[in-house]
Amino acid sequence: MKVFITRKLPGEPEKFIKQNGFDVEIYNNDEPIPRELFLKKTKNVDAVLSLMSEKIDKEAIDNFSNCKIVANCAVGYNNIDVSYANDKKLIVTNTPNVLTDATADIACGLILACARRFHEGEKLIRNKKFFGWKPNMLLGFDLKNKTLGIIGAGRIGFATAKRMKAFGMKIIYYDRNKRENFDKELNAKKVSLNKLMKNSDVVSIHLPLAEQTKYLINKTKLDLLKPTAIFVNTARGEIVEEKYLIELLQKKKIFSAGFDVYENEPKINPKLLKLENVFLLPHLGSATEETRKAMSLLAAKNIVNVLSGKKPLTQVLK
Ligand code: GLV
Ligand code: GLV
Repeated sequence: MKVFITRKLPGEPEKFIKQNGFDVEIYNNDEPIPRELFLKKTKNVDAVLSLMSEKIDKEAIDNFSNCKIVANCAVGYNNIDVSYANDKKLIVTNTPNVLTDATADIACGLILACARRFHEGEKLIRNKKFFGWKPNMLLGFDLKNKTLGIIGAGRIGFATAKRMKAFGMKIIYYDRNKRENFDKELNAKKVSLNKLMKNSDVVSIHLPLAEQTKYLINKTKLDLLKPTAIFVNTARGEIVEEKYLIELLQKKKIFSAGFDVYENEPKINPKLLKLENVFLLPHLGSATEETRKAMSLLAAKNIVNVLSGKKPLTQVLK
């Protein structure tokens, strides 16, 4: 049986797959595989190890003749039409858990960078404008005793909240479900989305992108933010009405925003680049050696399990 891997990945998942007796072909490149080549290469394989850059839509799924599993090397799977895959008995897996801590670290990094104005400070130094300590230079604000609103109280949301609790923040959260761990471990209350937007000093997004969450944070919701608020997104850009968030930042109607993801990724709205009150990262949530290796190995294990007739470890269902 044959496995196709769509990119050169940390951790060499191809080794693990070969050790388990399967053939592997890999698009050994740092750039995404062109669509036509992807369709050609995956037509007759038994499994695909994919990334979020590959759209596994109806066309791609109908094009498979033998594929039993698509193992996405990401926790998000908005690039895959999971319900159509389910209809076709195609197994889809993702990589939860292994990237929770790395992604929470990035969310907290953005919160600190925004509260303490890292971008402006760095820029001042690099532009050789630092002429000595000044009592009023680049004042940010304390996180202690401020309220962090977590939107999407899953694993990453919890890990972020737990870290920021150690900085002295109070936690509130919005989620479809009540989350015992938030209540018990963080003394955090579930609130409505409107209440969260109104009452938080820092808002951090940790939702998956789906039909129900696309533009969940629209103009109406963004307008509820405090003028001193920090807004951070490490989930998916399309959850937020980015154009309007940029307007708020331009008019200084909120304090600042930290981005790891963008609405039209990898295209960046040029207006963002002109703003001083933002901190911008190129989708680095899971970008550590250890985490990226663990992700690609988990994807490889899902494939080996399914091709060996065992259950996948981390299947996603619609
Ligand atoms: C990264 O964004 C992921 O979904 O793993
Ligand atoms: C992602 O793994 C989450 O549940 O937050």
